[in-house]
Amino acid sequence: MAVETTTNAVADREQSTRSEMPTTVDDLRRSGMGDSSLPAIDVKDLKVYYDSEAGVVKAVDGVSFALQQGERLALVGESGCGKTTLGMALMKLTKAPGYIDGGQILLDGRDLVPLDDEEMRLARLAEIALVTQSAMNALNPVMRIEDQIFDGLIDHGIKDTKENLRSHVYDLLLRVGLRENVGRMFPHELSGGMKQRVAIATGTSMNPKVIVADEPTSALDVVVQRQVMMTLSRVQRDTGAAVILIGHDMGLVAQFADRIGVMYAGKLVDIGTVQQIIEEPKHPYTKLLINSVPDLEEKRERLTGIPGIPPPLVDLPPGCVFAPRCPSVEGPCNELEPKDTDIGDNRHVMCHLFDPDVAMAGSEVA
Ligand SMILES: Nc1ncnc2c1ncn2[C@@H]1O[C@H](COP(=O)(O)OP(=O)(O)O)[C@@H](O)[C@H]1O
Ligand code: SF4
Ligand SMILES: [Mg+2]
Repeated sequence: MAVETTTNAVADREQSTRSEMPTTVDDLRRSGMGDSSLPAIDVKDLKVYYDSEAGVVKAVDGVSFALQQGERLALVGESGCGKTTLGMALMKLTKAPGYIDGGQILLDGRDLVPLDDEEMRLARLAEIALVTQSAMNALNPVMRIEDQIFDGLIDHGIKDTKENLRSHVYDLLLRVGLRENVGRMFPHELSGGMKQRVAIATGTSMNPKVIVADEPTSALDVVVQRQVMMTLSRVQRDTGAAVILIGHDMGLVAQFADRIGVMYAGKLVDIGTVQQIIEEPKHPYTKLLINSVPDLEEKRERLTGIPGIPPPLVDLPPGCVFAPRCPSVEGPCNELEPKDTDIGDNRHVMCHLFDPDVAMAGSEVA
């Protein structure tokens, strides 16, 4: 009986979500916020694998986290640890030989994993949007900027007068710090930073609840990077969207985010507030990451200087994947896989040192 009630509640919510899909520019201006009692996005035990000749590559292996509306999470970690694979999976854009092997991606309570291509096409942009470092190169070179933004809106069921659509596009351009006349321009007339702002305007044109930004500034020079991050910040504040910012520049992401999640070899090994992660790093990998940034105030240093390299994500040996590089390794680390441990204050660490059930000489459990 209880199950039936829950199923009905979910069906009602899905029905109301569909019937509330915006169809005019006015609807769009009012949209964006979902049911505030639910996290904007709740990722549960997500697994994204690639089939390869060497075996199954477990690029994202049981990742869980939740973001409240308007929250900003940065995901950091060395190259190859699964950040982009995770971001693409959240958009359901995983391409073969990759596939989602399990888990849930609850967006305002609705699981995206079972959605078909058409349902997902509608959810993208309207509910969850992606900005990547190559977004600016995806602009159509022979179309004016405003026409490209119109196309996205019309494709998602917005039926309004040209005048209203144009006024919405101008608002979007202003929000990303561009002048109205940019709407009449072609991509080749814009600088890299301007193009990336257009990509942010396009990505947020339907006030999505969640924005996934995968290294959105990596292709830009340092000064422009900072400006584009400020633009993303402003758009986030204006729309109230939750943002997942993927990056490897700890200084840059720390300025933007509320929380930081540290990924290592397909797993989220440490997650906490920016202050917790930077001032009290817990996981040995997080400690090394923080120490490898000589001066966080400089905010430009990259994640370098950790001895060793991340393991290939095929046929991982038993135990902790970080053991071969970990300065705190002990006996149990080579046999037992560490589990996600809640250490209080919504802080989670995946390391035996914080697990009261594992005997470690260096245990940090009080
Ligand atoms: N198409 C693919 N086929 C097989 N393995 C892949 C493919 N794409 C990515 N991978 C592997 O998945 C892992 C994670 O990659 P990626 O998500 O790009 O990491 P990041 O964004 O953190 O640098 C890497 O080990 C990479 O080699
Ligand atoms: S479980 Fe062991 S090897 Fe892994 S990070 Fe913790 S101390 Fe290091
Ligand atoms: Mg990447």
